[in-house]
Amino acid sequence: MNRDKELDLLAASLKRTLDKERPLDGEETLVPTTDYTDAARFERERERVFRRELNVVTLSSALAEPGDFITAEVVGAPVLVSRGDDGQLRAFLNVCRHRGATVEPRASGRCKRFVCPYHAWTYNNDGSLHKVRHKDGFPTLQPQDHGLVELRCVEAAGLVFVCPTPGLEPEPLPAALVGELEQMLGPRPTAYARTARDWAANWKIIVEGGIESYHFSVAHEQTIAPFFTDTLSTWEAIGSHTRTVLPKRSIASLAERPKDEWRIREHTHVVYTIHPNALILTQKTHFDLILMTPVAVDRTRIEVLTVGNAPESGEVSERARAFLQQNHGFSLLTLDEDFEIGEQIQRGLATPANTHFRFARFEDALSAWRARLEAALE
Ligand code: FES
Ligand SMILES: [Fe+2]
Repeated sequence: MNRDKELDLLAASLKRTLDKERPLDGEETLVPTTDYTDAARFERERERVFRRELNVVTLSSALAEPGDFITAEVVGAPVLVSRGDDGQLRAFLNVCRHRGATVEPRASGRCKRFVCPYHAWTYNNDGSLHKVRHKDGFPTLQPQDHGLVELRCVEAAGLVFVCPTPGLEPEPLPAALVGELEQMLGPRPTAYARTARDWAANWKIIVEGGIESYHFSVAHEQTIAPFFTDTLSTWEAIGSHTRTVLPKRSIASLAERPKDEWRIREHTHVVYTIHPNALILTQKTHFDLILMTPVAVDRTRIEVLTVGNAPESGEVSERARAFLQQNHGFSLLTLDEDFEIGEQIQRGLATPANTHFRFARFEDALSAWRARLEAALE
């Protein structure tokens, strides 16, 4: 983010902290609990939101060199992302155009060509069909029409986004968001630790925990709550995305210090909710990237990556690597507090205890997020 924005956000957070002024500009909102249990609605969310939008799948640094590839499942679709010999990143359905086998079964690697493990049709790393074994058996085949099916792939701010439905032109990323993330995430964001597992909770419960700060001082009492203020976050929508600023208690010290010493990453956590599938939790020297895949109405796969900036040349020091790995452990401790409560909420949803959940006036970021989701589902 630019310096003016940084100072504005810090001034707003400082004022709110000194005044202990909980924001009450929003309306209290009720949401039906069936939104978290209705399988038909869940399918609509996958179809109309996740499959039509750009989903974050990895970091650019995972595919730094020509020939690098990764495979991933993006909202149920097998996807292959490959950097061609021309340096261009492209994404494809990882499905052979002969009889549909998975073309590249490995999770990642580097190669010039992909060879299908069923009958060895071969594709170049730009997706075009290179060679068909015993081609004389397919007299009507037009090789130029049988490259891998391409998907919209965008590389921005060191992140790789893919829309898993071919032929769609998803909503572009707002330039303001990309510019801000470029500054916040640094020039070479690189994952130094990663953990993935499934949680038995609806994906919206996970996102909602990342948007409000009402739970912070209670649910995270044993971990990071002592460093933070209570329910004094500020937020702003950037297109379909949300930036939330959580002030630390230390922000109060800025009242005594000149503005040229004000640094947002020292005195707040800036959290980005990247619609539809990612959360970015920035910390002082690094960030956590949380990727979500909605697997079932009551199941979400969550991958947590702890990301530092790689040096311009050579490897990161052993000390820096150990620091990031240790911080990965701290992040998991805190996030597990959220996700375990998420599983409790999902279990409670199987009872008749609540017909609605309630978002407070000071949780208007949640209400606004939910309103945007409902609009997308219409
Ligand atoms: S299915 Fe790929 S070569 Fe036959
Ligand atoms: Fe939390």
